[in-house]
Amino acid sequence: MPHAHSFLLAHLAQSLDGRIATAGGESQWLTGEADLCHTHRLRALADGVIVGAGTVRQDNPRLTVRHCSGDQPVRVVLDAKLALPEERDLFSDGAAETLVLAAADRVGGKTRLGNAEIVPLACEGDQLAPAAIRAALARRGLYWLLVEGGGVTVSRFLAAGALDRLQIVLAPVILGSGRPSLQLPEISTLAGALRPRARHFALGDDMLVDCILS
Ligand SMILES: NC(=O)c1ccc[n+]([C@@H]2O[C@H](COP(=O)([O-])OP(=O)(O)OC[C@H]3O[C@@H](n4cnc5c(N)ncnc54)[C@H](OP(=O)(O)O)[C@@H]3O)[C@@H](O)[C@H]2O)c1
Repeated sequence: MPHAHSFLLAHLAQSLDGRIATAGGESQWLTGEADLCHTHRLRALADGVIVGAGTVRQDNPRLTVRHCSGDQPVRVVLDAKLALPEERDLFSDGAAETLVLAAADRVGGKTRLGNAEIVPLACEGDQLAPAAIRAALARRGLYWLLVEGGGVTVSRFLAAGALDRLQIVLAPVILGSGRPSLQLPEISTLAGALRPRARHFALGDDMLVDCILS
């Protein structure tokens, strides 16, 4: 169930055939300038911006607000295995506070990865539970949360019922192969599909579908 005390919005830019990147991981840029500005405005609204380890490994993102004015959100990386190299801009640029959420049993005595603070969390299997992530961030005063990808990370929050809003921006692009957007446990009948209340807006040449989940 979505949490009463925090708000979590996920954003993904994808092709018409549901890909967020090429097979080699190239995703910049699937969508246009209007979506880039929209994403930076979402960052400016957010207390924290969450990304999965795959995105940090592949894109080396900064996750800062640059295309509009606003405060820098706290950057939050999900890296349960604590396997990311320290040589990522997020961990060294000092542009904003950065947290690495990792499995408690992988952390040992380590408290920092470069400039970033390591936050140990209990794991369910090899995954950090979305509810535990939200609770840990709320304890730090981070209530308005943006999940910026990638597909695996957003899918885990969605599967756990831990998203309040899902914004998918469709680019009029067909890749035909590549990294998938959402992947959920298989359903056998259409009755099992999620059918959120949704609105859509033109965003330059792209189409923003805003799914209201809570
Ligand atoms: N188009 C877009 O909107 C967009 C946005 C962002 C990224 N991208 C692209 O997408 C690709 C990366 O996406 P991706 O789906 O492959 O990977 P991802 O979602 O960025 O990262 C997935 C990894 O993050 C860690 N993780 C995520 N949730 C976790 C949880 N609840 N508990 C523990 N660990 C968790 C796991 O790392 P471990 O397996 O190491 O434990 C997991 O394998 C890149 O090519 C990037 O360029 C596109």
